[in-house]
Amino acid sequence: MLPKSVQQQLAAPLEQYDSMELTTTRLQINALRPTDAPVLFGYRADPEVARFQSWRPANLAEVGDFIAAQASADMAEGWFQRAIRLRQGGDLIGDIGIHMAAEVEASIEFGISIAPAWQQQGYAGEALKALFAWVFGTLGRHRIHASVDPRNLASMAMLRSLGMRQEAHFRKSLWFHGEWADDVVFAMLAQEWSSHRG
Ligand SMILES: CC(C)(COP(=O)(O)OP(=O)(O)OC[C@H]1O[C@@H](n2cnc3c(N)ncnc32)[C@H](O)[C@@H]1OP(=O)(O)O)[C@@H](O)C(=O)NCCC(=O)NCCS
Repeated sequence: MLPKSVQQQLAAPLEQYDSMELTTTRLQINALRPTDAPVLFGYRADPEVARFQSWRPANLAEVGDFIAAQASADMAEGWFQRAIRLRQGGDLIGDIGIHMAAEVEASIEFGISIAPAWQQQGYAGEALKALFAWVFGTLGRHRIHASVDPRNLASMAMLRSLGMRQEAHFRKSLWFHGEWADDVVFAMLAQEWSSHRG
């Protein structure tokens, strides 16, 4: 546990979590809405998008419940999900999951999905750069990380292109969709983000 004085230095005021909305050149990252359910179901149930994800919605009702549950998600502790929308036209093109930890010294985890029609146009990179700026700049956190199946070549390429470091490769460490799967961990520290940005 860090000393109280360091914790106070690191901790962002709680209201910074309440309104987690980010804007980039092309994107708006904000709360999921009940009306997002059909589009969210459309791409999250797509086998190519779902292949390496733990959540595969079985039907529209499950997605509706998921969105409804977000309203009471604790943004200071545990997973919460945000929509990724085009600023122009407002289309929902993907979503980001963020795992917050109340302890200020703890690492923050994320996962991201972009609908197939919108992939390979730089949207994931753009959304994640904004997330990093929020985590390191606004919240003043120390470390961010993501866990990926190494067969997920698009995700591996994306994490590397963001300047994240591969820190671990656990062999057949997860029982995932009926088979043992490898788990690769990528991370970035606040000081690495500063120099990568520079
Ligand atoms: C991984 C994923 C989010 C990437 O989204 P995206 O919007 O297509 O990514 P971007 O266009 O921002 O590309 C980011 C980088 O990854 C690379 N990349 C993206 N898709 C790639 C692919 N299929 N093959 C190789 N490289 C790829 C891009 O070339 C780019 O690198 P660069 O900056 O050096 O040019 C998307 O493929 C996806 O949603 N996949 C299904 C869900 C999933 O598996 N999510 C990962 C959970 S962590």
